[in-house]
Amino acid sequence: MAHCGTQFQYGGILSKMKVALFHVGRKLNLINGVKNIILVQRLKRSIMTSQTNMEKALDELKLNPYFEKYAKKISKLQETSPEEFLSKIEAKEREAKAKKEALAQERKFQPASRAKPTLGGSIRRYYSNGSTSNFYVTTPIFYVNAGPHIGHLYSAVLADAVARYNSMLGHSVRLTTGTDEHGNKVQQAAQVSKLPMSDYCSKISLQFHKMCEVFDVGYTEYIRTTQERHLKTLNHFWITLRKKDYIYPGTYSGWYCVPDEAFLSTSQLEDRKNANGETVKVSIESGHPVEWAEEDNYKFRLSVLQNDLKHWLKDENTVRPAKFHKILSEWIEEGSCLEDLSISRPIDRVSWGVPVPDDNTQSIYVWLDALVNYLTALGYPEESYKEFWPPNIQVIGKDILKFHGVYWPAFLIAAGLEPPRSLLCHSHWTVDGQKMSKSKGNVVSPFDAAESYTADGLRYFLLREAVPYSDANYSKEKVFNTVNSELADSLGNLVSRCTGKAVNPGREIPHPGKYVDILKSESATKLKYCLETLHLEARDHYEKNNLHHVVDSVMSTVHAANQMVEFHKPWHLRKQTDDQSYNELQAVLSLALDCTRISGLILYPIVPKLSNNLLELLDVPENERSWANTVPRHLTKSENSVRKVNAESTILFKRIRN
Ligand code: MSP
Repeated sequence: MAHCGTQFQYGGILSKMKVALFHVGRKLNLINGVKNIILVQRLKRSIMTSQTNMEKALDELKLNPYFEKYAKKISKLQETSPEEFLSKIEAKEREAKAKKEALAQERKFQPASRAKPTLGGSIRRYYSNGSTSNFYVTTPIFYVNAGPHIGHLYSAVLADAVARYNSMLGHSVRLTTGTDEHGNKVQQAAQVSKLPMSDYCSKISLQFHKMCEVFDVGYTEYIRTTQERHLKTLNHFWITLRKKDYIYPGTYSGWYCVPDEAFLSTSQLEDRKNANGETVKVSIESGHPVEWAEEDNYKFRLSVLQNDLKHWLKDENTVRPAKFHKILSEWIEEGSCLEDLSISRPIDRVSWGVPVPDDNTQSIYVWLDALVNYLTALGYPEESYKEFWPPNIQVIGKDILKFHGVYWPAFLIAAGLEPPRSLLCHSHWTVDGQKMSKSKGNVVSPFDAAESYTADGLRYFLLREAVPYSDANYSKEKVFNTVNSELADSLGNLVSRCTGKAVNPGREIPHPGKYVDILKSESATKLKYCLETLHLEARDHYEKNNLHHVVDSVMSTVHAANQMVEFHKPWHLRKQTDDQSYNELQAVLSLALDCTRISGLILYPIVPKLSNNLLELLDVPENERSWANTVPRHLTKSENSVRKVNAESTILFKRIRN
């Protein structure tokens, strides 16, 4: 079969010929190799190293799965006159450099706008649209067979934090989420609820919608797989795969569980004795017996895409953290998950699904249906989807790695679309050391938890406690201790002691630039150092998706600020009447309050509401809330104006009572 799907659609500033050079050849130093050859011709001189480089580059290039496609174009390229080619490349390089500089300038002056997202309409771009750099982030879409729990919330707030961080950098960000509403499990849940299918789906979808609202998940698009727009996209996608000859009629056989209405793998089965003492195979999960069954369906030629998947995975950042990149690479290398895949089911087995185009005896495989939501959200196949395609970061839990790391890129490559740049895979939440499950009765509802710890508190806890590479544990005691000690006692206390009337009756926020050299104590020197490096450290942690480290860095700086305040005792300084004490007091307040300002900015992606409250209180103007503003004020040339505390109450986060 022709490899019709191996052609990614690189949109482009360059003609196809140059695309071949820039995309295929970039990593292989082809441009340098070609440049060197041209120089060699021009100077009529033989340079062995250039020759060797070129040969090496071409050898490596041949290993590239796109080599065949681009080989012709590259050979044509080599016929271009050397001077002509060199000047073209140089012109392109100049153009790219100028663009980059212009973009950097633009970002400096156009910080992200953070108007509150409104929910329930069509497209809402509440992130910066000043930048030309588009950034697409997604959450998985949630099954509506049950309402939200903290695991779902974690996927959603992690994606939201990634989106907000990138909007602070000046990117124009799209964040999509929604609900996955087809399949037998959903149908069964609807039957139990005794509601008509569509009412049931709407009811549960609304709960996920509400979860986004309560926990500030600022999506720009909320997709439901039962929406008409999704059905259109899905139909088009199916037809594209079929036209490209990736779909063929086949059969599927395996162990089928009639009561559960599902094929089960051998690892989901065990042998048990039935009432007659006979050994039968049953589902481990439900205990229901299974039987060997065979059915007709459509299959997807997954098995021919192994090299394409390997190529996609070549870049380690494709799947993060590295642990999951390794797991996925091993699966793909050994090929056990790469058999051709059934992508439809007889409609009488899965009736709550989308019929296959031109064959209503079959319904589309629920995972193909669900994955395509990421295209629906951008309006595919309308041309405008390309503005944000491919996704920059797709957040997923480890349980859905195979679907997003094997099937999803394979479907896209087959359809001629570029696969995602990066999957951010997180681990799971356990509760008091146990897997969450209905039968154990330990499923934590985010709404109930927010009643106890506030929405900000819960969001903060989830993002500060979890590490992406291993499971995290939720316990009431831990949430209680974390939010009280960090949000109330550390950050909250620093804010109130520096803005409260006892120390700061004028409620002024002096400019640290004016007083920075006054404090010579060890604690002040340490704080200055922490503040000067905090934004660099935090940025590095954000880039690596280590949000827990972001919070650690902020909290240790806040700790240093509290120590500095305790050392200089502003409540004593306040009672003195001499100039020196006055200046020392101003220096302490300005430095400590700048620490709270920077903390507010850096924590914004993690706790947007709380940060906004803090930045309002500190009278930080809207246009000074981008990442560029995380540099301490004593290092910037901003004007030396005095700001005033902009709130009656100086309580940032009320201690939670047990
Ligand atoms: N509908 C599919 C996803 C389709 S995306 C094209 C699905 N839905 S889900 O509701 O079961 O899960 C949604 C997200 O919640 C997934 O990222 C999943 O990993 C996450 N979590 C579900 N339970 C979890 C925990 N206990 N802990 C953390 N996240 C977990 O899968």
